Amino acid sequence: MTAMETHVVAPGRVNLIGEHTDYTGGLVLPMAIDRYTDIVGVRGGDRVQFTSFDEFEPVDLPLHIDRPQDATPAWAKYVAGVVSELPAPLGFSGHVTTDIPIGAGLSSSAALEVAVALALGCEGTPLEIAQLCQRAENRASGVPTGIMDQLAITSGVRDHALLIDCGELTVQPVAIPSGVEIVVQFIAHRTLVGSPYADRVAECAAAEAAIGPLRHATVEAARSIDDPVARMRAMHVTSENQRVRDFAAAFAAGDLHSAGRLILESHDSLRLLFDTSTPVMDEAVARLAATPGVYGARMTGGGFGGCVVALTEPGVLTNGWVVRAVDGAGFVID
Ligand code: GLA
Repeated sequence: MTAMETHVVAPGRVNLIGEHTDYTGGLVLPMAIDRYTDIVGVRGGDRVQFTSFDEFEPVDLPLHIDRPQDATPAWAKYVAGVVSELPAPLGFSGHVTTDIPIGAGLSSSAALEVAVALALGCEGTPLEIAQLCQRAENRASGVPTGIMDQLAITSGVRDHALLIDCGELTVQPVAIPSGVEIVVQFIAHRTLVGSPYADRVAECAAAEAAIGPLRHATVEAARSIDDPVARMRAMHVTSENQRVRDFAAAFAAGDLHSAGRLILESHDSLRLLFDTSTPVMDEAVARLAATPGVYGARMTGGGFGGCVVALTEPGVLTNGWVVRAVDGAGFVID
């Protein structure tokens, strides 16, 4: 890197617990992980241009974009989403590298958005940058995703998971206890575009029309909903919010057995009530749950494929990535 160059890194994220709760203002507990998207390049000019070893076609965009969803190639949509949301984007010419697997549920697209936003001169608090990138993602993909991924990536704290209240938009670091390893196993590619993700958002909205905001609702209230689908979705969300609270308390107490039990319960709830798992993810979780030294495991992220995350005693699993919690996105001063 030369003195004129700008270097940005944005981590991926894994969600430990609190799945499909963010878009109802619920609780989530993700962490930024030691897998990164890097951008190195030079600011200036009136185009936004990126090459990448992972993508055959480069991105080449103007600074004014009305319809980011029309940008090509596919990865340009996310860059265009950020350009279209920034009040005064800088021109940029640079190269993107990543070791976050793409389409695996570890937020490769959110990491790209946050890295691009910083490279193009986005200023603001971690929350403001996350909100801008969430809008970019929603416009680029057409999927009404929540704030979790972008906020975990901008707010990461080394050696901590993040207890995020997606209604209050507060982030509280929770120390990861010693003696636990967090392992991610990639199971199947997936994309949320064209998946039932948007249906789940609508089903939660239907539940809220019946009993009010799910973030304040109890499981008993959820159980009273007439419509069976809305009832199941609401039962997942309300019980998942409580599991996040219990999990944070278990982590704080170093009680890994309770933490493991809670993430297994979270998976079952996603499987039975929220219908975002798949047989192959269920099999992976069942295999992990039966492995000595594994406290618990679950699907992580939007679902319909992607990764499973496991809490284990150190050294128990050899097939998967041991991930560490890292600081959020920022500039690298070489
Ligand atoms: C995806 C979305 C997040 C969140 C999760 C499910 O990762 O981007 O906003 O809704 O799915 O918890």
